[in-house]
Amino acid sequence: MSMHRAAVLPQKGGPLSVQERVTPEPGPNELLIEVMAVALNPVDHHQRDFGLPPVPVYPAVIGSDVSGIVVKTGSNASLPGTTKPLVAGDRVIAFASSFYQSGSPDYGAFQKYVLAQPEGVIPLPAGLSFEEGAVFPLAVLTALTAWTTIGIPLNTRYAPEDRQAVLIWGGASSVGTLAIQSARTLGFTRVYATASPKHHEYLKRLGAHAVFDYKAVDVVKQIVDECQKDGVKLETAHCVVNGSLQPTLDVLKETKRHGVVAKVAHSPLLPPDHPNLDGTEIKFNYPIMDPTERDKHMYECFHDWLQDGLQSGSVVPSPSPQIEGGGLEGLNLALDKLRAGVSGTKIVVPI
Ligand SMILES: NC(=O)c1ccc[n+]([C@@H]2O[C@H](COP(=O)([O-])OP(=O)(O)OC[C@H]3O[C@@H](n4cnc5c(N)ncnc54)[C@H](OP(=O)(O)O)[C@@H]3O)[C@@H](O)[C@H]2O)c1
Repeated sequence: MSMHRAAVLPQKGGPLSVQERVTPEPGPNELLIEVMAVALNPVDHHQRDFGLPPVPVYPAVIGSDVSGIVVKTGSNASLPGTTKPLVAGDRVIAFASSFYQSGSPDYGAFQKYVLAQPEGVIPLPAGLSFEEGAVFPLAVLTALTAWTTIGIPLNTRYAPEDRQAVLIWGGASSVGTLAIQSARTLGFTRVYATASPKHHEYLKRLGAHAVFDYKAVDVVKQIVDECQKDGVKLETAHCVVNGSLQPTLDVLKETKRHGVVAKVAHSPLLPPDHPNLDGTEIKFNYPIMDPTERDKHMYECFHDWLQDGLQSGSVVPSPSPQIEGGGLEGLNLALDKLRAGVSGTKIVVPI
């Protein structure tokens, strides 16, 4: 029986505690991965500190974003349509989360060896470090699920004559940067985002056409004016950060055409008393729970979009990793730093 080290969440309220765990064998449709770096997401400190979203099993292993090396593959872990199946020794990017595995700690990222399903595992390109690769998984899944949540399939390719625009409120966040990159793939004629001025040039390099300072008192007017100047239809938005729904609706009120239903995806929890706008659908960006639908969606997110985009160079790691030391023992402090707030960076911990 092999053992490995894990940052275990022993009970609700944390903190994480480094312990030995039995290293699992991969099931037929699974890969065992040696974890080289993990990236942190707000959900990780919410789960550590408050057990929310609910942690079904304690002791738990939380986390979701991994880069590492394939150690073993299950007997049936190569996916149909995959040109080169992953084998032991391959460097990979992996979505590794116990969230879809009834909380089983074998699937949580914050440990040295983790199980993952092949739909969420892709090769890490030779030109990228483990730290760069780790920034993607949950942010990619969230940014891309937002589109399907509001009825925009991932194979959508708007044509320039469609004049479709999109507003991403919170463009410098981890999810926001990947919302911008994926909006370009979908073919939006104009991608508008909000962020602090120090990030504007960076977000334009990622694909935003115009970026607005969300702290400007007239930010809503600035966006509406830009939209009118560009002659585009702005009826689609992704509210990535807390506090973004009201100003987004204020923009849409001016830009949406009469009789057209505007669509807004909302990534933070949507409070029951949230603001509304006539003729506008606001949907919480909810993870897909049906396993068959989810596997297909994960394949489209990771293999069709991320892997292809990395290969062609149309997708780059974003935002830049902020590397924190300490390995598994350093995760509590790194999570505290994320909880205190980041600006245009993704906290990554080499393991
Ligand atoms: N529904 C889901 O399945 C799901 C999954 C993952 C994450 N989420 C949620 O999605 C949200 C984003 O997560 P994340 O990891 O991407 O966050 P993050 O990277 O930690 O977000 C930090 C960024 O938020 C920006 N920001 C904060 N307030 C803003 C405002 N009022 N307007 C514009 N930008 C603002 C800051 O921009 P500046 O630096 O420019 O100031 C900062 O760069 C979180 O609420 C998270 O819980 C939901």
